[in-house]
Amino acid sequence: MSAPQLENKTAIVTGAGKGIGRAIAETFAEAGARVIIFDFDEVSGKEAAAAINESGGKACFIQCDVSDEKSVKAAIASASITHDGYDILVNNAGIAHIGTVVSTEPEDFDRIMNVNVKGVYNMLHQVVPLLINRGGGVVLNMSSVASVAGLPDRFAYSTSKGAVHTMTFSVAADFIKDNIRCNCICPARVHTPFVDGYLEKTYPDNKEEMFQKLSEAQPIGRMAQPAEIGKLALYLCSDDASFITGQSYEIDGGYMNLRG
Ligand SMILES: NC(=O)c1ccc[n+]([C@@H]2O[C@H](COP(=O)([O-])OP(=O)(O)OC[C@H]3O[C@@H](n4cnc5c(N)ncnc54)[C@H](O)[C@@H]3O)[C@@H](O)[C@H]2O)c1
Repeated sequence: MSAPQLENKTAIVTGAGKGIGRAIAETFAEAGARVIIFDFDEVSGKEAAAAINESGGKACFIQCDVSDEKSVKAAIASASITHDGYDILVNNAGIAHIGTVVSTEPEDFDRIMNVNVKGVYNMLHQVVPLLINRGGGVVLNMSSVASVAGLPDRFAYSTSKGAVHTMTFSVAADFIKDNIRCNCICPARVHTPFVDGYLEKTYPDNKEEMFQKLSEAQPIGRMAQPAEIGKLALYLCSDDASFITGQSYEIDGGYMNLRG
């Protein structure tokens, strides 16, 4: 069976400067898509776009803070100068937080919700009307196993990913008649700068030991590689998945069903 293709498709991928988003952008570009990288980190966003272009793909970078409505509007206006529409939106940008409901301060809660929830809303609010006008499209949201399992010390993060999970169903239901499919991915641990940053900050003295522990949390014995998430994203955003909408996909090395 040949790999799914995205020839002649234009995809916006948020948070594609690094980690999972970058792997999704690279996988989409390899499949023939024009990729628009939305990221607030100019250095990594430009670097990711340049790497894709150098390897023969088509990508551009537009600076965007998804949590800021004005920034999202400006980024889409800027993208629209050179692109005549969008077929795919991947809401991947997200940030982490460690804490229980007691240790999570109000400002931390607001910050997580602003990026992980309001950011997805901001993108959907601006892009879904464009997909409708174009005659349809695909939305893919990045949730987490934290949205469906009780992870210790992840109160705000889990809350935010639960919202991403249910936003997926809402959008899928509301726009099915507009030929828009909407699904989400729920990864367990993926080895990205997100994880390295967490280990550096939380366990500066025993990073290697904790890396091993986090790897073993997946019954398969390791973390996912970002490219493995990229392949699932490619499938779900391609026409090969034309009958799939309103679904959430765990990609978790057995985390949800094989523990214990
Ligand atoms: N890494 C994991 O183990 C894991 C597991 C499950 C879900 N996820 C989710 O996957 C997504 C990507 O995670 P990652 O591990 O690749 O993270 P990462 O930190 O490695 O990369 C995230 C990217 O998003 C960008 N970003 C952050 N805030 C932004 C904002 N406000 N506006 C625009 N861009 C912004 C960053 O600059 C960065 O390039 C997140 O939504 C995360 O919650 C990650």
